Amino acid sequence: MTLKDVAKEAGVSVSTVSSVINKSRFVDEEKRKKVLEAIGKVGYQPNLIARSLKVRNSKTIGMIFPDIENSFFISLIKEAEEFAFNSGYNVILCNTQNDPGKEKQYIKLLKGKMVDGFMVITSFKDKDYLEKELAGEKVVYVDRYVGVKDETVVKLDNIKGAEMAVTYLASLGHKRIGYINIKPEINIGFERLEGYKKGLKKAGIPFNEDLVRYSGFSVESSYEKMKEILAQDNKPSAMFPISNRITIGVLKAIKDQNLKIPDDISVIGFDEIVTADLLTPSLTVVAQPAYEFGRISTKILIDKINGKEPEEDIINLEPELIIRESCRKHIS
Ligand code: RIB
Repeated sequence: MTLKDVAKEAGVSVSTVSSVINKSRFVDEEKRKKVLEAIGKVGYQPNLIARSLKVRNSKTIGMIFPDIENSFFISLIKEAEEFAFNSGYNVILCNTQNDPGKEKQYIKLLKGKMVDGFMVITSFKDKDYLEKELAGEKVVYVDRYVGVKDETVVKLDNIKGAEMAVTYLASLGHKRIGYINIKPEINIGFERLEGYKKGLKKAGIPFNEDLVRYSGFSVESSYEKMKEILAQDNKPSAMFPISNRITIGVLKAIKDQNLKIPDDISVIGFDEIVTADLLTPSLTVVAQPAYEFGRISTKILIDKINGKEPEEDIINLEPELIIRESCRKHIS
């Protein structure tokens, strides 16, 4: 696709398209909007060199995230969008539904729209793809650490969060602590597993594979994995599911087996769950500061767009243990 295709689509001259891309002369807002829309529509990819020479100033940020129904991302994106809006930036929200193919399409679309920067909560582990496609762009990764060169990432101190949950359960006397999380392939998998093991070690509790399962993010997959754990004769006295959706699957499996929380089994979740304090018993969780995630990552991205790099490349946010009613002392 060329400038001519954009001009035709927008119904303006090629020189107007060039002026919008190169910021070489004033173009009225209506024509500018038409050109930017046409760029996205025809999928025009300005020549990388030409683009890198031009000051980017679409005052628009692309936000890519994996699941628009997930309360953690809802809170994060709500805060991120608000901060961007109040800073004079428009936002394009891209819900990938955990689909790497959709994520790739959105990255191409946002590049075509010449957004000023990208906030990326990636759903896949293909760091080479991201490194190539987002080369030269202003990017902040969030929640999921990818491992690309010069990466800026805002994430949770996952090791600390998982460790504090196990330490709390051990302090109540639990020695058989079940664990369900996604596979240790991305940081929210392997860092939380490391924290779980660290907490066990600190409490002198041996790591027991029988109490560990790896599910997907869905309620259904964690429900099935929890049924497997409960099918064992020597059941755990406590469970530590390590994300909001996984926790819900665990609670459902416990209910379906007619077990009582915390009488038969204690449960500590990970991520605040909107109704956690309304459940009976109310749910103890290790909460992530989702709003802080949104605010801090957007501020860092806007600073980057305006030429100010953050002091650190890996920003670890603090987890918070919120003790409610779902865990009790265990006398072995
Ligand atoms: O489902 C929400 C989980 O996925 C959270 O723990 C958050 O870290 C995200 O990665």
